[in-house]
Amino acid sequence: MCGIIGYSGKVNGIPLILKGIKGLEYRGYDSFGIAFVDSNHLFVKKNAGKIDEIIEEFDMNSLKSNMGIAHTRWATHGKSIYKNAHPFMDCNENFAVVHNGIIENYMEIKKNLKGHKFKSETDSEVLVHMMEDYTREGLSLLQATKRILSEITGSSAFAFISLRDNKIIAAKNGSPLVFGIGKESFYISSDVPSLIDYTNRFIFMADGDIVQFSSKSYKIENVFKRVRHRIETINADGVRYEIGNFQHFMEKEIFDQFKIWESYKNLDLTIFEKVLVVLKEARRVYIIGSGSSYYASLYGAHIFRKAGLDALAIEPQELSDYVKILKKGDVFFIVSQSGETYDIISILKDLKDNAKIGLVNVMHSSLSRSVDIVIPMNAGTERAVAATKSMTTTVLTFIIVYSMLINDRTYKDIELLLNGRFNIYVPSVEKLVNRVSEMLSKTREIFIVARNEDYPLALEGALKLKEVSYINANAIDMATLKHGPLALITSESLVMAIVSPSNEKEASNNLEEIKSRGGYIIGISTNNMPEFSTYIRTVDAGIFYPLPIIFLFQLLSYKTAIRKGIDPDKPRNLAKSVTVK
Ligand code: AGP
Repeated sequence: MCGIIGYSGKVNGIPLILKGIKGLEYRGYDSFGIAFVDSNHLFVKKNAGKIDEIIEEFDMNSLKSNMGIAHTRWATHGKSIYKNAHPFMDCNENFAVVHNGIIENYMEIKKNLKGHKFKSETDSEVLVHMMEDYTREGLSLLQATKRILSEITGSSAFAFISLRDNKIIAAKNGSPLVFGIGKESFYISSDVPSLIDYTNRFIFMADGDIVQFSSKSYKIENVFKRVRHRIETINADGVRYEIGNFQHFMEKEIFDQFKIWESYKNLDLTIFEKVLVVLKEARRVYIIGSGSSYYASLYGAHIFRKAGLDALAIEPQELSDYVKILKKGDVFFIVSQSGETYDIISILKDLKDNAKIGLVNVMHSSLSRSVDIVIPMNAGTERAVAATKSMTTTVLTFIIVYSMLINDRTYKDIELLLNGRFNIYVPSVEKLVNRVSEMLSKTREIFIVARNEDYPLALEGALKLKEVSYINANAIDMATLKHGPLALITSESLVMAIVSPSNEKEASNNLEEIKSRGGYIIGISTNNMPEFSTYIRTVDAGIFYPLPIIFLFQLLSYKTAIRKGIDPDKPRNLAKSVTVK
């Protein structure tokens, strides 16, 4: 998703702006640009491409300015080319704007903007021509911004730099934006980590907030409701994050998991006790998530049902099917690593009367500020687009809640897991992972089959191979093979089979169906099976058995991406946090 940075202060802000926008690269982008004021002139430098290339193209490190805004663009409307890169200027070059989100009614607005010369194919450009018209009519910068915010529909965060007012004004409604307060400087950004080297004092902007600031002062107000804007101090250590000796953030985040799982030994169970009370009183528990968070939710719903709860995992876009049957006693368990996924945030308004539990990794995110109980994933900053440690900590959380629901407090398995005694990645496994990733790097299609509670793990494994290694990986519930998918199996087929001990018996017949049609089966299991052509042994981690399996697919997708020359941290077309519809 797009990223926004803004700065106004006493010192030259260009280096801060450039470092800040680099900190937003992980969100995924295809273009970059900055707008800044120098000797009473408004400049815009931008292009499609990588930030470092464009910095060099315009020799940005030599630029000087006390006020500027910057943007990384993740294309929603218009190709990734120069003219569609932000910022955009009005016809008289008095204002420049950067925008994150989608303006759903931009065509209608564009029709009413008479006499303007549009230079891009984007929805965002309408904002700066609206500003031009409204200020020409005599509205102040603030009044014009309020009018813009009231007229556009869809989710947005945007920032203008105004040459005539010598100010920046920014507004939030649906997409994330934070306001940073430095000693003699003020900032805006799409996230906290990108500013943490300059300030640890933030106002987390609410929907409807408008903040305007110069280098000397700021003013913030909400146009929708009365809001008390609190300045919060963030612990920088918990946010600052370096790649260390790893080649990619994804590699680091995969291997960080062992110590993160270990940290669960000191888990503060008070939150879990509260969650248990809410879950036990629930008429139904809806577990909601997107992508990997949904697959983890599927697993969670499966084991919650095993514990006797009426639990159902759905994706946010499915909620409209259930709104009519929702009851007050229905509880929502909402899973989101970023806490900013638009599809999740946009449904919260339909859940006003329901208890909401949030399982979130980014603790000051929109979701974590909108639920009744927040369970921190405690996975630490996750930069790679692929969910890795956030996925396994989500599954780990579900398993711990499950254990408490069935009063299995011995946690004998968690002790084994948390003492790191499960040798998940031993040399023999590493050798096999390298061999299988070599095979995967040469295939365009693969089937991942599994049964029952293993099926969500197959879905997640398929997603990793899709999004990181660009392989058309299809998860198939083994029980459905004979109902159609078996037609796809030939002697050319490469199949991975996830088989946990409790599913071995049932899986055997399904695997025989694949094998007898010539399919090559790579088993992912604790025990070898005669139907496997080869297999990667996963440790028998008891109730935590999903973790080694999820870890394996993360590693396979990472190693396969490297073999194929793909950047695993920033897969094409994807963003870390999907803040648009
Ligand atoms: C997972 O590898 C993907 N990057 C993606 O599916 C992700 O899980 C999904 O977008 C949900 O993100 P969230 O957990 O931040 O809401």
